[in-house]
Amino acid sequence: MCGIVGYIGNKKACPILIAGLSRLEYRGYDSAGISTIEKNDLSIMKDKGRVKNLSNLEGIDNLEGTIGIAHTRWATHGKPCKENSHPHQDNSKTFSIVHNGIIENYNELRTFLTEKGYTFYSETDTEVIPNLIHYYYSKDSQNDDLKFLRAVKNTCADLKGSFAIEAISKLYPNNMIVVRKDSPLVIGTCEDEKYLASDIPAILSYTKDFYLLDDLEFVVLTRNSAKFYNQDLEEITKDTQTIEWNMSSAEKDGFDDFMLKEINEQPTAIRETIGARISLNSKCQFDELSFTKDYLSSINKIYIVACGTAMHAGLSCKNAIEKLCKIPVEVDIASEFRYRSPIIDEKTLCIFISQSGETADTIAALKLSKESGAKTLAISNVIGSSITREADYSIYTHAGPEIAVASTKAYTSQVVLLNILAIYFAEILEVCDENLIINLKQNILELPKKVEEALKCTDIIKDFAKQIYLEKDMFFLGRGIDETVAREGSLKMKEISYIHSESYAAGELKHGPIALIENGITVISILTDENLVKKTISNIQEVITRGAKTLVITNQNIDKTMFDLVINLPKTSSFVSPILSIIPLQLLSYYISKEKGLDVDKPRNLAKSVTVE
Ligand code: M6R
Repeated sequence: MCGIVGYIGNKKACPILIAGLSRLEYRGYDSAGISTIEKNDLSIMKDKGRVKNLSNLEGIDNLEGTIGIAHTRWATHGKPCKENSHPHQDNSKTFSIVHNGIIENYNELRTFLTEKGYTFYSETDTEVIPNLIHYYYSKDSQNDDLKFLRAVKNTCADLKGSFAIEAISKLYPNNMIVVRKDSPLVIGTCEDEKYLASDIPAILSYTKDFYLLDDLEFVVLTRNSAKFYNQDLEEITKDTQTIEWNMSSAEKDGFDDFMLKEINEQPTAIRETIGARISLNSKCQFDELSFTKDYLSSINKIYIVACGTAMHAGLSCKNAIEKLCKIPVEVDIASEFRYRSPIIDEKTLCIFISQSGETADTIAALKLSKESGAKTLAISNVIGSSITREADYSIYTHAGPEIAVASTKAYTSQVVLLNILAIYFAEILEVCDENLIINLKQNILELPKKVEEALKCTDIIKDFAKQIYLEKDMFFLGRGIDETVAREGSLKMKEISYIHSESYAAGELKHGPIALIENGITVISILTDENLVKKTISNIQEVITRGAKTLVITNQNIDKTMFDLVINLPKTSSFVSPILSIIPLQLLSYYISKEKGLDVDKPRNLAKSVTVE
């Protein structure tokens, strides 16, 4: 999705803006641009394509300005081209802005402004914003310090949709105005400098102190101050938050790609996520939560709502919560949930999972649940992200920044955290056999070591990838909890290897999909539930008979001779087995993508945070 960077300080803005845009590349984009104030005039440079194209533009090295805004655009309204890329200016070239989000009523606003004599040069929804700022600025007869801010505030009052906006003006060479609504934007602060970005890693090398903005808080930045205003333009106070991530966590650290680094970081991510939350001798600790037995006993349903990989994490924990807490759990895709009129009331607990905390559909589903009277709990990897500010309660995975578009360490950390949450609820409710809880705790504590063990299959998987990377179709099979891993493995394969793949509950195969099995096709099966081993093996035999090449991921003692490759994993509780079973599948999609020479970290058409619906 679009990325925003901003700088105001005493250094040249251009190199800082370009470096920030490069760090946001992983979000996905198709054009890039910057605007700086040069000797009391606005300069704009932008182009279609990569940030590298922008940094090669003639004249860009001559930019001296110490205040500037920058943007990577992911096309929504209008094709990727120079005219549609940001920054955009008003007709008089007094204001430059960048915008992330979607202005839903831009057609109306465009008509209004056209009638007032404004001309539009792009197909974007964004271009109405600088022109509206100009319109309100020109109409304002008060010539005080807040005139620019008032124009931005009046503009935002007209906008329907989502936005994060940075605005600069040649009339105010020492000011930048910033505002957000349902779209991410953070402000990093040092004594004489302010840095802005859509997310923290882009500016983590400059500061660890951040202001996290709430919706419709307006900010006036100078080099050494940040003033915050509410929607009535009354000044409000805001504290900074210190972010503990270090810079090397946002760098590749010697790995070829972020995805490979993040796969290998899983033992640490899981260790950090477990933290001090569980121990064998005491009850589970969540300092952020204050659920009571009375409240939890009144709950008659839990919804887990999320998108993509985060939804798969939810699916794989449904069983743990149901078995440990005796509360029915439904898992839903956020974009479906919000439009299907789910039955929600004050007896419903809704859990929302989002690595980024900025996924538009998940945030909208959360708002709907709150309005319907449910208590809401957010699980995110990003402190202060939108979802955590909306929810009644928030807990965090401590996976560190996840840069690769394909989610790996966030998924396994989410599965760990949901299992710990299930234990926390179960210990309050006292409805579950204590041995089951102790056993699960023991297994969770052993996970970091077992993930290290599982990662040892890397070379075998790399070789297997060489044999199958030219395949056009693949199948992933599993039963019970293994079926949820099959879904996640299949998603990874599609998104970074561009191989068409399907996942099925193994028993469903003979009800239709088996018609697609033909000589040489690869079928990957996950087999960790001892009660279902024999059944799943029978299903695999059915595809072997029809000529399939088979890879089996298992922690069971099985006869290996009938399969092409078997990856053995350490044994663990079936509740957390997805954390180990997914590792060979993450590696397989990674190495197939590498064999095909694809851009692993930035797969085509995909964005890291999907901030539009
Ligand atoms: O930031 P979120 O966890 O809300 O993102 C949800 C999905 O967009 C995300 O998991 C997506 O499916 C990943 N690219 C999968 O690898």
